[in-house]
Amino acid sequence: MEEKSIGRFSSKIGVVLAAAGGAIGLGNIWKFPYVAGESGGGAFLIVYLICVLLFGVPLVMTEFIIGRKARKSAYGAFNAISGNKRWQWLGWWCIVSAYLIMGFYFVVTGWCCNYLYEAITNAFAGLDADGLSQHFVTITSSTPRVIICCVVPIILTSAVLWFGVQKGIERLSKILLPLLFVMMILMVIRVLMIDGSGKGLRFFFQTDFSLITPKVVMVALGQCFFSLSVGIGALITYGAYMPGEQNITSSSLQVAILDTLVAVLAGVIIFPAVFAFGFDPQEGPQLVFVVLPAIFQQMSFAWLSGVLFFILLLIAALTSTISLMEVAVASLCDASGNKLNRHQSVLLATGIVLVMVVLCVLSMTEKWEWLTIAGRNLFDCFDDLVTTIMMPIGALCMSLFVGWFMPSRNIDLVPYSQKSWKAKLRPVLIFALRWIVPVTILLILLNGLGLLDALIGLFKH
Ligand code: TRP
Repeated sequence: MEEKSIGRFSSKIGVVLAAAGGAIGLGNIWKFPYVAGESGGGAFLIVYLICVLLFGVPLVMTEFIIGRKARKSAYGAFNAISGNKRWQWLGWWCIVSAYLIMGFYFVVTGWCCNYLYEAITNAFAGLDADGLSQHFVTITSSTPRVIICCVVPIILTSAVLWFGVQKGIERLSKILLPLLFVMMILMVIRVLMIDGSGKGLRFFFQTDFSLITPKVVMVALGQCFFSLSVGIGALITYGAYMPGEQNITSSSLQVAILDTLVAVLAGVIIFPAVFAFGFDPQEGPQLVFVVLPAIFQQMSFAWLSGVLFFILLLIAALTSTISLMEVAVASLCDASGNKLNRHQSVLLATGIVLVMVVLCVLSMTEKWEWLTIAGRNLFDCFDDLVTTIMMPIGALCMSLFVGWFMPSRNIDLVPYSQKSWKAKLRPVLIFALRWIVPVTILLILLNGLGLLDALIGLFKH
């Protein structure tokens, strides 16, 4: 009976595609290229890859382990495993983080909807880079328009969740993710045909080790957590729907590889275009919204390239919003003791998300300045709070939870029938989760809060 109240994925590949779909998102296509651009290109890429292997993969495994053992949402999983309520706050921590991420994530998804519409109607024809920059400001500050554009993906996401795990999430991921790959390959081919694309590739793949600073490492780690969707229980939720015989080691590696592949492909699409047309890779968050439309106009097949790119961005964003909102929906069912069914939970979660998104959008306008915190709008505050504090702390506590407080016999990585090398990884994983992952996250958090220097100073005396 208990098993029935929670959804199940029907196949192993369904889990990997849904989790990879959640991982692959704006973080890969919108954020990764501009962050890499600002942090030294190839140098950043190397640090990023190391972070994925050392911290990303163990944390993906951690969340899958917790979810599958507990068969509960982020809200109930820690209690179910520990058998007491001491870990309840971590469940709430995950839920609050999920809503905060959705607050700003849906805004950017809304921008994507707007840009797709404009690409289809050819609205940026004739605008140069300055014009497009101005256009971005105009669009993002026209409140009613942005709100309408945000409501579209919110409704689409809720509609998918309405149909449940197998008929909604799994079915859609199986269609959208392969489609995303095909479109990315088409874009890569298109970009490599541009004269002078080599310069961008060199920027992205050539490593100047002198550019690796503590700041770069911090940014790479934050980006790795965000991109792999770890630290807020999104993968706990999917882990709860995972078939019992699934191999967690292989699935986690597959998710990490697919996610990293898309980030690298996004770099391969964006940097050659940026360099070939003489733009600056350090353009920041506007990189894909300003530079790319400018570049598309100078290419043959301009209309098609623009439309294709923004469809790609939207698909990536939607599979991620689905995974984010599922954290909220599953937790609502759980927290209400299943008094709320899936449909009621979807409606309630959608309502809360709408309020968060509207607040975020309003705080970006001058009229609603009182909605800012220390002079920064809610969009920036949510983004910063979650990526620099809440996700790392969530990840830190989950790694301690599994490393120290979960009996190791409960850590099932590989089904008993498969005795491969992957089965021997358990002690390595536990060691990483006890020491390497938490200590590194702690150092980075302290450094981020400016406390590390103070501590070092203290020890010197
Ligand atoms: N990983 C997604 C991206 O790269 C965003 C995302 C989806 C996410 N679900 C998440 C981030 C859960 C953190 C936690 O765009």
